[in-house]
Amino acid sequence: MKNKVSIIGAGMTGSTTAHWLAEREFADLVLIDIVDGMPQGKALDLQEALPIIGKDVSVIGSNDYEATANSDIVIITAGLPRKPGMSRDDLLFANADIVRKAVEETIRHSPEAIYIILTNPLDVMAFLAMKVAQIEPYRVIGQAGVLDSARMRAFVAMELGISVENIHCYVLGGHGDNMIPLTRTSNIAGISLDQTMPPEKLAAIVERTRKGGGEIVSLLKTGSAYYAPAAAVAQMAEAILKDKHLIVPAAAYLQGEYGLNDIFFGVPTQLGRKGVERIFEYELDEEEMAAFQRSAKDVTDNIAKLEL
Ligand code: NAI
Ligand code: 2OP
Repeated sequence: MKNKVSIIGAGMTGSTTAHWLAEREFADLVLIDIVDGMPQGKALDLQEALPIIGKDVSVIGSNDYEATANSDIVIITAGLPRKPGMSRDDLLFANADIVRKAVEETIRHSPEAIYIILTNPLDVMAFLAMKVAQIEPYRVIGQAGVLDSARMRAFVAMELGISVENIHCYVLGGHGDNMIPLTRTSNIAGISLDQTMPPEKLAAIVERTRKGGGEIVSLLKTGSAYYAPAAAVAQMAEAILKDKHLIVPAAAYLQGEYGLNDIFFGVPTQLGRKGVERIFEYELDEEEMAAFQRSAKDVTDNIAKLEL
């Protein structure tokens, strides 16, 4: 039987995720949204594209959660995106209501599903999803690190003119302005990024990575990034359903790792068929540890505001 992936929220990130996933051809897809006709229209359009690219999966759009029944993975993108000048945290309360409802509905129809959360503020929404679904922490993963690290990789490639395939970047921590682009651990074909360019150029890349989401928001003016976030989610879904044991930076539930407890936070996370298989702990220096604590405080402060 084919895998089934349901995407809740058929807006920019949701429909683009469906697009990337359909191209990878490993799961039938369901798109759910509250807007009447919109998920149906997008699903049909995508289904009609598949003969051209030669991919055999089914794509269904619906406003009814019944269509998500027995999903292997549920991806939550439903919610409001940022407008220029807004931080991800400004979205907290509105998106909490939306994510709560999406999780309540989906877990009822797919009690065995693994969740990938995209809705912002990401780390807090992943925490909320785990609480509402009342499932094991390893079945909930937040997407942020793959995206933030890809941005950093793109900026390094642009600066040095080296293939993105040789550039390995690790952006950890919360998905906010205090995220942690690790320059010592990031590397180009094994050479620490610290040694590949003058410090001021590297500092500019770190800063641009931290502000990467905001840069796209200011250019688009309505809405936020979607190609790269959706590609990140598709990679994670593939790693899970193909049981790849792939290590990616992603928001996982921490129970003592990095000295942090009861928090979803971006860390190197191994993904396979059960969800999060393992969390890797880097040896952090003093400065990196302080950055972790700063970023973790942002996330715990927001989790506290939801009074779960
Ligand atoms: P969008 O506005 O294009 O799409 C959101 C969709 O959610 C809309 O179609 C809306 O009708 C739908 N929706 C709202 N309430 C719903 C409900 N109760 N049930 C089902 N659907 C509902 O926004 P976009 O660009 O897709 O972003 C979605 C979310 O993802 C935002 O919170 C955004 O900040 C976040 N995001 C997170 C990223 C990350 O790296 N974690 C990256 C990009 C976006
Ligand atoms: C991003 O980083 C908005 O969180 C989203 O693009």
